[in-house]
Amino acid sequence: MSTNKKVEELRAYKEKMKLGGGEERIEKQHKKGKLTARERIELLLDEDSFIELDLFVKHRCTNFGMEKKDAPGEGVVTGYGTVDGRLVYVFAQDFTVIGGSLGEMHAAKICKVQEMALKVGAPLVGINDSGGARIQEGVDALSGYGRIFYNNTIASGVIPQISVIMGPCAGGAVYSPALTDFIFMVDNTSKMFITGPQVIKTVTGEEVSAEELGGAMTHNNTSGVAHFIHNSEEESIENIKKLLGFLPSNNLEDAPVVETDDEINRLEESLNSIVPENPNKPYDMKEIITILADDGDFFEVQPYYAQNIITGFIRLNGKSTGVIANQPRVLAGCLNINASDKAAKFIRECDSFNIPILNLIDVPGFLPGTDQEYGGIIRHGAKMLYAYSEATVPKVSVIVRKAYGGSYLAMCSKDLGADMVIAWPNAELAVMGPQGAANIIFRKEIKNADNSEEKRQQKIDEYRETVANPYVAASRGFVDDVIEPLETRPRLISAFDMLSSKRENLPVKKHGNIPL
Ligand code: HXC
Repeated sequence: MSTNKKVEELRAYKEKMKLGGGEERIEKQHKKGKLTARERIELLLDEDSFIELDLFVKHRCTNFGMEKKDAPGEGVVTGYGTVDGRLVYVFAQDFTVIGGSLGEMHAAKICKVQEMALKVGAPLVGINDSGGARIQEGVDALSGYGRIFYNNTIASGVIPQISVIMGPCAGGAVYSPALTDFIFMVDNTSKMFITGPQVIKTVTGEEVSAEELGGAMTHNNTSGVAHFIHNSEEESIENIKKLLGFLPSNNLEDAPVVETDDEINRLEESLNSIVPENPNKPYDMKEIITILADDGDFFEVQPYYAQNIITGFIRLNGKSTGVIANQPRVLAGCLNINASDKAAKFIRECDSFNIPILNLIDVPGFLPGTDQEYGGIIRHGAKMLYAYSEATVPKVSVIVRKAYGGSYLAMCSKDLGADMVIAWPNAELAVMGPQGAANIIFRKEIKNADNSEEKRQQKIDEYRETVANPYVAASRGFVDDVIEPLETRPRLISAFDMLSSKRENLPVKKHGNIPL
């Protein structure tokens, strides 16, 4: 046989393998509004940059006639390539091959790219579209998942791990995405659940559709499991690339700096009047974030979950910055269980990957109620205190309006390690809101007054003027400066520049014990 014949054979073999489960199954996939594993990788990576690994891997299962079952690529396409010129590892489960089900060798392919990504220090994007553990393989499949979960955990905080759900992801399989940094889902086609609708009906009698139980909006809005929802796979992949642009390749690097024409000294007159004079009137904190950001570009993370707190990325003078902000439009910006969980995870994301943190504070308190107390707001709120205290990246807090009590500390006061605290002149810093405070300390005076309501209002105003302003805190050095709102962007850029060489070391320990 001549060498050329061998080459031709190799070519033909590769061509056949690249069709995965074959044209019929590919068509079925397309009819469901889904792309194939290879089409997804092609969209994600820079043109012609994909290098595939392990195309020749085969399963070793002989149960239930599996030895006769062909599984091209073992139901998962793996390899590496670049996104905007930066190295990224990828795996994409191929539903056209035995439903993308995961057996021993399928798992081994995923583990190989996980381990390479970790060694090299590059992000891993995992695209999930699978019927779960390959039932014929039994415990070999289970062990495969176990190895993937272990690798996810070891890589956590070292390389960014992004999970993309573009089909079913059910049973224990959900725990790989759950252990990663960000989960993307696509409306209507993604499903995640531990136990499906049929099992639920059998065990509890409860009837629920698969979409309602584990569809993209359920996990973006209700459970908080996922971080992003998009209408199409194309849109989802565009946003994965955008997210990668805000992240470094690993924990020893900084995120890429993106040049901007947006003036660093840009003063924004509109900021001086954006917060209503009436302290009980809401406004949209997202407008402030957009005004401060380079080119008005705000990449929001978890926009549908716990909307009383806002998390996401902006750039300031080209540098990636994590933003955590109270949203006065939702629950008056109070902190609750879900907001605490959302913020704490995001703070740790930023700290793991050397992304400075900007806090925009307008927080009237923790949400009162038995729901919150019984649900463990004490434990959940503590996550924010913990996450801020242990974060060693530069942290800058801007007090936009209210900063009351424990909720202010939980939003990163000076004492929790804010390197710079700037207040706007209408800021109100106090141990509690003026209303609550006046009702306690002036209780007798209010009760004995001829007109109690008038007296109450008078005492509330008196408390606000005397105590709830930025100057008392500034006189103690808890606030570094009180500034005109319009100067906020230049002041932030200057603060983060000044802090860019910040080094802070925590005591050596095995690991801390964040309240969970
Ligand atoms: C083996 C599987 C499979 C699986 C699908 N297939 N899931 N083979 N193991 N887990 C095969 C199907 O038999 C079929 O083969 C092909 O993949 C395509 O599947 P369809 O059912 O035709 O597709 P569709 O109608 O779109 O339905 C998709 C599905 C369904 C909803 C995912 O396939 C399904 O319910 N699968 C089983 C899901 C499940 O219970 N998994 C849990 C396994 S236990 P043919 O040859 O007919 O085309 C588990 C525990 C993990 O995951 C624990 C980890 C810690």
